[in-house]
Amino acid sequence: MGRPKSTVVGAGNVGGTTAQRLAEKDVYDVVLVDIVEGVPQGKALDISQAGPVCGYSTKVVGTNGYAETAGSSIAVITSGIPRKPGMSRDELLATNAQIVKSVVTELVSRSPGIILILVTNPLDAMVHVAKTVSGLHKSRIIGMAGVLDSARMRTFIAQELGVPGPDVEAMVLGGHGDTMVPLPRYTTVKGKRISELMPNDRLEAIVQRTRDGGAEIVGLLKTGSAFYAPSASAVDMVESIYKDQKRVLPCAVLCEGEYGLHNVVVGVPVRLGTGGAEQVVVYDLTPDEQKALEVSAQAVRELCATVDRLMT
Ligand SMILES: NC(=O)c1ccc[n+]([C@@H]2O[C@H](COP(=O)([O-])OP(=O)(O)OC[C@H]3O[C@@H](n4cnc5c(N)ncnc54)[C@H](O)[C@@H]3O)[C@@H](O)[C@H]2O)c1
Repeated sequence: MGRPKSTVVGAGNVGGTTAQRLAEKDVYDVVLVDIVEGVPQGKALDISQAGPVCGYSTKVVGTNGYAETAGSSIAVITSGIPRKPGMSRDELLATNAQIVKSVVTELVSRSPGIILILVTNPLDAMVHVAKTVSGLHKSRIIGMAGVLDSARMRTFIAQELGVPGPDVEAMVLGGHGDTMVPLPRYTTVKGKRISELMPNDRLEAIVQRTRDGGAEIVGLLKTGSAFYAPSASAVDMVESIYKDQKRVLPCAVLCEGEYGLHNVVVGVPVRLGTGGAEQVVVYDLTPDEQKALEVSAQAVRELCATVDRLMT
């Protein structure tokens, strides 16, 4: 048996970096797919040529088709278009939904046992689209947002306290957007509650900066959005699945009763192992936290209703 095959769809900033990070693990073969001729092939060759220097021998293939993806155990989907000047949110939603629909159909027809990690925005709605068109069990369709949002919060806390980022634990639930729900009660530094380590006003400022984390980077870059931390977050999820680590990471999955939420995709703590999203882990929430999660879920429901309407 060869190495497990992982596919990355979209060879742009997030997809290209995801393929690079996967190649550096030296564990998986990587197939990189994009519609632009030459780009996935060029990036795949470039990543391969870093192998002798960095010490990996990963096979990386770039392609504009799906034949090479056959037999993939996992795919990270980053294909989409950014919002262009004059484009409405609904137009962006409809365009990316069509892209995700076609990509998912191509992937699943060649790899029926695949696990999909969605990255394309608007994230929660794209998970909903993938679930609707794929026919896969909900445990095999997982959105990446919470790992990134939590990583941003962990970074801001680490910088504020002068501690190493990996020592900070944080959990951000809810939809990937303005209604996300950072949980300071579950935020710790080496087991110590964050409320014991910083005054409330500083913590509130960090929570707000986390909510605005994506926009802050867009504002600095001027063109394009974040990709180093997003690709690191997607690969963290891939690793927990491939290595059956059973780590509990915040992921966007279809909830069917957990947290009192029914038939809605929302960011919740999920145990990731070889079965994909093996279990939604239910934390005790205060009434305020529960309310914030419900508000966030309602915003996602409205977005999904819009995407359903646009796609019929
Ligand atoms: N979930 C998150 O937390 C998160 C974080 C960062 C970025 N994103 C989202 O990820 C997506 C990718 O971001 P990026 O910075 O890499 O964008 P990008 O523009 O650099 O890359 C997107 C790539 O998708 C390709 N593409 C478009 N249609 C395709 C199709 N039908 N099949 C295959 N490839 C196709 C494009 O050619 C392009 O190379 C965006 O939707 C972005 O908003 C999400």
